[in-house]
Amino acid sequence: MSDLEDKGFLDIKIDSDIDLKNEIHELKVKKNAILLAHYYQTGDIQDIADFVGDSLQLSQKAADNNADIILFAGVHFMAETAKILSPQKKVLIPDLKAGCSLADSIPVADFIKFKENYSEYIVISYVNTTAEIKALSDVICTSSNAVKIVESFPKKQKIIFTPDRNLGNYINSKTNRNMVIWDGACHVHEQFSLEKILALKKENPDAKIIAHPECKKPILIVSDFIGSTAALLNFTIKDFSKKFIVATESGILYQMQKNCPEKIFIPAPPLDSTCGCNDCNFMKLNTLKKIYISLKYEQPEIFISEEIIKKAVIPIHKMLEISKK
Ligand code: 13P
Ligand code: SF4
Repeated sequence: MSDLEDKGFLDIKIDSDIDLKNEIHELKVKKNAILLAHYYQTGDIQDIADFVGDSLQLSQKAADNNADIILFAGVHFMAETAKILSPQKKVLIPDLKAGCSLADSIPVADFIKFKENYSEYIVISYVNTTAEIKALSDVICTSSNAVKIVESFPKKQKIIFTPDRNLGNYINSKTNRNMVIWDGACHVHEQFSLEKILALKKENPDAKIIAHPECKKPILIVSDFIGSTAALLNFTIKDFSKKFIVATESGILYQMQKNCPEKIFIPAPPLDSTCGCNDCNFMKLNTLKKIYISLKYEQPEIFISEEIIKKAVIPIHKMLEISKK
């Protein structure tokens, strides 16, 4: 742990009248840094980012930029992926505690044991995994290219899919495969209530239901469109409907509303309407203040062993190659 983390980021005092957006901009220019942000970040972060995207677009950008520093406003596995793709660059994350329940649902030791039962299988892992799990995988996928990645293998190829059971089952149904699926899930996407979504649809019969494939099967069945965050955004831009019930993390609604101010976007309700749990608590740990401090002190930095980078970069490159085709 660095000195800065020891002291705790939140304890660092900054002038209350400081213009954070301006300071971040100046630091970015001075240090030749690029700020990448996922669609689940708050609107103020999305607005100052050099690039906003879904996991695939962000990996592509992390692999192809001229910056010396990548500051990743997202979660830990995303910053790790950037480091694996650009190991010579300094990769920063505003808050090291910005993890992911899905990535946490596959401990390395358990997976090594599990894999021993499936010697003839290849491993396709969702990008929401740690660098160690990626190093044990044959190819990585994201929600936007998962079907394509799976279909790049012959039908008879035996496949283990990790770690998201909902995405895995969805791909099995789309590709008519029988992949063995790790039993992991995202705590945000598993929270949506079918009953409440259907009640909302009854009140808004003109609304289309759109969902991320990490949602449970009953939600996907009633959805008019299923896709990654970028695919959902594009759908709302191109579709003629004026109203959408959106079953994914709430941050994407900011971009949807920004692109189509005349349309109505309703966040799909979670089971417990008081919990605010369609906000990813990990994604929402990032703030403008933490971004400023991170860039100023160049911490916290992502470190991954050379050995893991060497192994993990292979399946990520494979994914990027297949995605180009
Ligand atoms: P996307 O690949 O759609 O950006 O999703 C990432 C994610 O963390 C979903 O919860
Ligand atoms: Fe992970 Fe779920 Fe948060 Fe996405 S929304 S980063 S899958 S915990």
